[in-house]
Amino acid sequence: MNDKENNNYVLELLDIHKSYGSKVVNDNITMRLKKNEIHALLGENGAGKTTLMNIAYGLVCPDSGKIKVNGTTLVLENSSAAIKNGIGMVHQHFMLIDSFTVLENIVLGRECKKQGVFTDLQKSKIEIQALLEQYNFEIDLEAKVKDISVGMQQKVEIVKMLYRGAKILILDEPTAVLTPKEIDDLLVVLKGLSESGHSIIIITHKLKEIKKSAQRCTIIKHGKLVATVDVKETDEDQLASMMVGRKVEFSVEKRAHHFSKTLFKVDKLCVNDYRGIRAVNNVSFDIREGEILGIAGVDGNGQSELVEAIAGIRKIESGHFFIEGNNITHKKPREIIDSGVSTIPEDRQKMGLILPFNLAFNLILHKYAIRPFSKFGFLNFESIRKQASSRLKAFDVRPDDPNYLASALSGGNQQKLIIARALFDNPKLLIACQPTRGLDVGAIEYIHKMIIEHRNKGRSILLVSHELDEIIDLSDRVLVFYEGKIVGMLEGKAIEERKIGLLMAGGE
Ligand SMILES: Nc1ncnc2c1ncn2[C@@H]1O[C@H](COP(=O)(O)OP(=O)(O)O)[C@@H](O)[C@H]1O
Ligand SMILES: [Mg+2]
Repeated sequence: MNDKENNNYVLELLDIHKSYGSKVVNDNITMRLKKNEIHALLGENGAGKTTLMNIAYGLVCPDSGKIKVNGTTLVLENSSAAIKNGIGMVHQHFMLIDSFTVLENIVLGRECKKQGVFTDLQKSKIEIQALLEQYNFEIDLEAKVKDISVGMQQKVEIVKMLYRGAKILILDEPTAVLTPKEIDDLLVVLKGLSESGHSIIIITHKLKEIKKSAQRCTIIKHGKLVATVDVKETDEDQLASMMVGRKVEFSVEKRAHHFSKTLFKVDKLCVNDYRGIRAVNNVSFDIREGEILGIAGVDGNGQSELVEAIAGIRKIESGHFFIEGNNITHKKPREIIDSGVSTIPEDRQKMGLILPFNLAFNLILHKYAIRPFSKFGFLNFESIRKQASSRLKAFDVRPDDPNYLASALSGGNQQKLIIARALFDNPKLLIACQPTRGLDVGAIEYIHKMIIEHRNKGRSILLVSHELDEIIDLSDRVLVFYEGKIVGMLEGKAIEERKIGLLMAGGE
């Protein structure tokens, strides 16, 4: 390669190798970022993407390999060194301080000083305001971080990096928590930045976003480089199969059928959130046998409280719900499970699993006290292990060893384990909350298949998801939640992205 070509790269990660113990996480990966480029980094959960980017940001030290910035080889000992060299990273979990204002968060650690000692917030504010104008950001600098939306917080993180002079921006799954409108906004922001001299690496599982925003895409699998491709010359199917190593079916086959009987009914339900503020406000709906009812909405509009109330773990202020005509309001969680309701909770690690327990025990958490798992008050280990072994195989949990600890599974396999338990004895109503959050396309494909199969058996599913594609692909009917109320009900052909997105944002 001649010098001129070389100059096109603002960041080069060359033959980067990193292992943890005997596990190779980055296996001699090379990735180059061009000036003004948006470059996507794609790979299954656990492929080694975050590690590679942490290496570029000086947070993780590689075992071997070279990092070049603008053609010069550097040793990045920490993130300050990376920032000094114009590299900024926004992590998957934001690192802002909730009780501080936006302005305070942006300047934190880089305050302007008056007379050498006092913080001159006013001076910083003027500089930041100029930045906001330059890049067309609308952010209220005086708002407390805890009061602004996740989409806004993301922008604050980006501005924080720009304020530190970052020319190379690394974003780790920035869209995982955003609404469709926020995602579109972010992609516009990134495009603007790339046109004004910045270069960007974006990690995302969403192939659509890659097609929309990136010029090139680097795919890694099990820590190894698969390829760097031109996005224009690749389609979503090709990207997915390079990443997973086989063809992925995006469309889920759903048998059309006639719904008849109502299975589950919610009548004028009111539920408060943890602060005692009304979160579910007079909500009524029903679900028929063989139907997937999707609930769409931005996080925090009452969906979580609704599900907790149905599962019996949150107090109901007023209203009722019924399964096959039987009133199960105010019943204990165990009685609700026994009446045929099963839940995939939204937080798989906090609510779904007991991480230090093995897979076999996690599979019977809701059934351990009954036969065949217990007899006369004693656990029957043989039967627990045998059941687990066949379930783990049937639900494709890897590894399928009943003695393996839940904490050691990848996110996708933890979710399969939860689904194996939730579908244990063919529940009449499956409540699936964010069933594929943060998972890669291979795992998503599998989980969607399981949900559809359950529906095709004539069972009912309440699907709660912030993922619009998931709601649209799976649901027979969609309710949109906004501020604790149902603001729209869509069925059949009327289920479309633009309409739902608008309702989710409180529009008509
Ligand atoms: N500090 C660490 N110690 C041990 N293993 C780690 C550490 N960080 C990451 N890993 C392992 O490295 C692999 C790649 O992780 P990561 O880079 O986070 O993947 P991705 O971002 O692609 O999902 C995973 O198997 C993860 O468990
Ligand atoms: Mg990651």
